[in-house]
Amino acid sequence: MTKPIFPPEMHEALAACYPHSPAKLTHGLLGHPLLTLDALADLSARLPKDSIEYNPGALPIGIAPDKVPKAAISVQQAIREVDTAGCWVVLKRIEQDPAYAQLLRDLLDELASEVMPRTGPMLRLEGFVFISAPDSVTPFHFDPEHNILLQLRGRKTMTLFPHVDEHVFPDEAQELFHLGQHHRNLTWQDDFAQLGLPITIAPGEAIHVPVKTPHWVQNGPEPSISLSLTWRSEWSYAEADARAFNHLLRGLGMHPAAPAAYPSRNTAKSLAWRALRKVRKSA
Ligand SMILES: [Fe+2]
Repeated sequence: MTKPIFPPEMHEALAACYPHSPAKLTHGLLGHPLLTLDALADLSARLPKDSIEYNPGALPIGIAPDKVPKAAISVQQAIREVDTAGCWVVLKRIEQDPAYAQLLRDLLDELASEVMPRTGPMLRLEGFVFISAPDSVTPFHFDPEHNILLQLRGRKTMTLFPHVDEHVFPDEAQELFHLGQHHRNLTWQDDFAQLGLPITIAPGEAIHVPVKTPHWVQNGPEPSISLSLTWRSEWSYAEADARAFNHLLRGLGMHPAAPAAYPSRNTAKSLAWRALRKVRKSA
């Protein structure tokens, strides 16, 4: 039997926070052979092009055309030379590669004892690797998945905001997102800052990011590598469908209550939306 990646205190912390609260966690994934720079560079060569986001580094504001570097370095080189290249790379849906699919399954299997009794089976497992330049910022946004972000190298600070705060994250924006009509990025206002919970993670640490918790991320002064483990659940799909149903009610001039927080299953609204969607599809 292989040694578990998550220590007993991580399981205790996850049991206390999942799925509703952000929390700092720990992991034992450092030095894993699939997460070395060479392994990640090789993975980037195997992934489809549309699963890689690559920014080859900042150019100065003013630069003569003949001074612009002719051949930017390859993604593989950018990953191998992360300490000096100043680039950022996102490897998306790494489970497309069988070895990484197995790694994701192994990691999430370890968490099943906390996740399954609360939100049911883990659906649509997806993994992302973020290789980021020093001091870079990921703007204010939210994600619809359950997420645990594991830090492998460098430091980053994620500042998280209450997703139930109507001022920070309006109900209508949530509804439009679930109908495919709103981007993940959210509008920032300076008065939100006082509501933020900053959590800084170093290698061996992780953050539980609850579904749809607004956040922004600031990298530390050295390059950062993080692995994001994400999944959906029947509970998260039901909340999303209840939001979509609320949009319909709003269109009829009603002022629907927001879906109830966990552990409510939002069964009536989600079933109503699913029935309507079926009728619409077959019409
Ligand atoms: Fe995010």
